[in-house]
Amino acid sequence: MDKQKNVSGLLGDTKHRDYAPKLSLFNRFAAPELRKAIASLQLEPGAHVLDAGCGTGEALQWLRDAVGDEGTVTGLDLSSAHVAAARAQAPADALVIQADLDRLPLPARCFDLVWSVNTINHLRDPDAGLATLAALLRPGGRLALGQSSLLPDMYFAWDSRLERLTNEAVRQYYRDRYALDERDLTAVRALVGRLRRAGLKDVRARTFIIERVSPVGTDDENYLLEAIFRATWGERLRPYLSDADHAELARLCDPLDPGYALRRSDFHFLQTFTLVVGVA
Ligand SMILES: C[S@@+](CC[C@H](N)C(=O)[O-])C[C@H]1O[C@@H](n2cnc3c(N)ncnc32)[C@H](O)[C@@H]1O
Repeated sequence: MDKQKNVSGLLGDTKHRDYAPKLSLFNRFAAPELRKAIASLQLEPGAHVLDAGCGTGEALQWLRDAVGDEGTVTGLDLSSAHVAAARAQAPADALVIQADLDRLPLPARCFDLVWSVNTINHLRDPDAGLATLAALLRPGGRLALGQSSLLPDMYFAWDSRLERLTNEAVRQYYRDRYALDERDLTAVRALVGRLRRAGLKDVRARTFIIERVSPVGTDDENYLLEAIFRATWGERLRPYLSDADHAELARLCDPLDPGYALRRSDFHFLQTFTLVVGVA
């Protein structure tokens, strides 16, 4: 286990880890709300921005749009596959660096904004990671941490029991897979306290709602079907549900089944995206 700690993050990230397809699906799906979150920052044209844990890099273009031609956008990620995907689609003048947040090759006090979405919860020592990111800000610069699903997602408006069991099964799967305690997975909720402890001022939080009803669009269906129903749930939840519950879940997640969740007239999906911002 100690050896494992040296080579991977809390949720198994290494430079060889690749979940690029899942990240692209999420960013295409949540693009309207993520762009709204960026717009809420009212970035100055000409600002210098870092996306820390940029994944497949969709936000690099959105950040570029916000800071204009005089601004600069830099992406940084640990994973070779994610960096390659980000470089392929980043604006031509964006820099995408492969690096570990724990050992940053960047000078102090050079950014107006550090944007980091769904990444701090992957670090073994989030407070150390935040201190590193805070040190990159010029005085008055902002650290903006985005986090999905601080409240439980709503998938099955018609069946709260199966939804609760499914959400619990997912959490248990992650606890088993990465040998985590429940508190390791919930520690991410304390973003406000973490930013204050990192010495940031004027810390604020705002939650955006991602909401879809049937009939869902193509990007919505691609994300929910591929990234959630198949990649996150699917067969891997079988050990954590009764046979009857797993069979019911499988029917709801099968596009060939007449009861497919996304075609139900009562399909109503809710997910939160919380942005916590502090000033250096
Ligand atoms: C859940 S993904 C989020 C990616 C992107 N921000 C998004 O919202 O789509 C977490 C990202 O953090 C990266 N990551 C994990 N640990 C890291 C570290 N120590 N240094 C840099 N990047 C890291 C992973 O490779 C992954 O791309």
